[in-house]
Amino acid sequence: MSMRDAVGGYGLVSRLFHWLMAFAIIAMFAVGIWMVDLDYYSPYYHSAPNLHKSVGILLLIALALRFGWRLANVTPDDDDLKPFERTASRIVHWGFYPLLLALMVSGYLISTADGRPIEVFGWFSLPSPGENKGLEDTAGAIHAYLAYAVILIAVVHAAAAVKHHVVDRGRSLSRMWSGPPTA
Ligand code: HEM
Ligand code: HEM
Repeated sequence: MSMRDAVGGYGLVSRLFHWLMAFAIIAMFAVGIWMVDLDYYSPYYHSAPNLHKSVGILLLIALALRFGWRLANVTPDDDDLKPFERTASRIVHWGFYPLLLALMVSGYLISTADGRPIEVFGWFSLPSPGENKGLEDTAGAIHAYLAYAVILIAVVHAAAAVKHHVVDRGRSLSRMWSGPPTA
């Protein structure tokens, strides 16, 4: 089993990053929507945001590692795509990185605007850049818009992957799951 990416497809590391992060990001979206409406007397009033923030910071670290891995590997070929599809998929694939980074940074800024650090599962804490009361609302609005944008693009991205698999009988979905063909 190949760890690294090859011209023929993604290696194990990229596939684990892809599917674990896709799952976690979708779950983060659901938790985010749910937790902002929690009542003060809910038993999850503190634990849900703490979980959301802790997982979010781990995802930020994972995003950086994944981006480094992406740059350190060859990009699998996409020459079975039509020129339009190739352009669109490259914009979406690369576009996810800055969008996700901005989503995570805006989340960090909401959480630390009161001057308090983020405790990541009690394992380590990420300091606040300093108290900035007005920032909470601005960062919160940006965070919500970015979260919706990421999920909307992910839906289009997944629909394209499924269409390419079922209608065009392309190999990208299969190889994103099981890796490049072994010679
Ligand atoms: C995968 C990344 C993330 C996704 C998909 C996500 C998604 C969301 C969503 C959908 C909401 C609800 C927005 C609303 O309806 O107002 C939310 C709220 C929130 N998120 Fe995230 N989030 C992510 C990462 C983070 C990170 C890294 C942090 C901080 C370290 C964070 C902190 C918060 C906070 C504090 C709120 C509550 C904001 C408020 O009270 O209005 N999020 N998130
Ligand atoms: C929030 C969810 C998702 C994000 C952020 C995401 C992000 C990405 C990114 C950045 C790539 C480029 C490779 C890389 O840099 O790792 C990629 C490739 C891919 N994604 Fe996703 N993805 C998500 C969900 C999905 C879903 C749900 C599906 C399928 C139903 C899917 C199918 C694929 C496939 C087939 C490729 C490989 C395309 C190729 O062969 O070039 N993704 N995804």
